[in-house]
Amino acid sequence: MTERSRAAIVTGASRGIGRAIALKLAKEGCSIIVTARNHDDLDRVAAEAEETGAAGSLAIAADLSQPGEPERVVAAAIDRFGGLEILVNNAGATKRGDFLSLTDDDHLDGFALKYHATVRFCRAAWPHLVAARGAVVNITGIGAHTPDAEFTIGGPVNSALTNFTKALANRALDEGVRVNTLSPGHIVTDRLHARIEKHAKLKSMTIADAREDLRLHYGIHRFGETADIANMVAFLCSKQASYVHGTTVIVDGGATPGI
Ligand SMILES: NC(=O)c1ccc[n+]([C@@H]2O[C@H](COP(=O)([O-])OP(=O)(O)OC[C@H]3O[C@@H](n4cnc5c(N)ncnc54)[C@H](OP(=O)(O)O)[C@@H]3O)[C@@H](O)[C@H]2O)c1
Repeated sequence: MTERSRAAIVTGASRGIGRAIALKLAKEGCSIIVTARNHDDLDRVAAEAEETGAAGSLAIAADLSQPGEPERVVAAAIDRFGGLEILVNNAGATKRGDFLSLTDDDHLDGFALKYHATVRFCRAAWPHLVAARGAVVNITGIGAHTPDAEFTIGGPVNSALTNFTKALANRALDEGVRVNTLSPGHIVTDRLHARIEKHAKLKSMTIADAREDLRLHYGIHRFGETADIANMVAFLCSKQASYVHGTTVIVDGGATPGI
């Protein structure tokens, strides 16, 4: 009997970091389950994954901030591929801005997608991950470690997720699942482009000047590429990382000033 390929769920995989993670795991021969809201984008990523080497693919459009949707995605993945080895919780969209301009709904939305969907995915996937001695990678962000007045939703969401991930890793010690947090720095995606555009407007700068101004402000040699994150996720899910458990890996080009 041939061995079944590893099956991997990647959330928020229709673009940006999630798409890069899905394609990297596809290149390694995994079966890929991609989920986000936009059906057309997901279908495109699923097709690219198959071209890249995925053993199979499944695209499931879902608003993951809604209760029940993570459970539906996990059930569909199991139905299609018969098991689950990898869960990457990446979907997230927290609003930035002045604290006094952010509403209760902004805070609740930020937690609903990035925190609660991750918890629901982990709960629904757990028995399957235990059966497969699989791996979980939860994507947070460096706002978890360095609070920022413009990031009073994303920072706390990422801190909470870091705490949750460590607690889950402690539980997983007895169950054979490896659980880690990956905390990205400033990575070139639509989210970063939007931040650069806002900065350009605020400072009456060209986009190129605003990009350079932000780079200097962050104290980094360059902005990160989505591949920088995808490569680390692939490593964390691989046998080479079999002794990496319950930790937070910061991939930020040195942007975090503290330890
Ligand atoms: N880029 C950075 O510099 C950076 C830095 C630190 C941390 N991060 C974290 O890395 C993750 C990915 O960031 P990114 O920059 O790649 O973001 P992005 O380009 O905005 O992509 C976000 C992904 O999440 C999906 N998504 C958004 N709302 C959703 C919802 N309600 N239900 C399901 N899917 C939803 C989006 O697809 P749809 O719109 O189709 O739903 C998209 O696939 C996020 O958790 C972010 O906080 C990013």
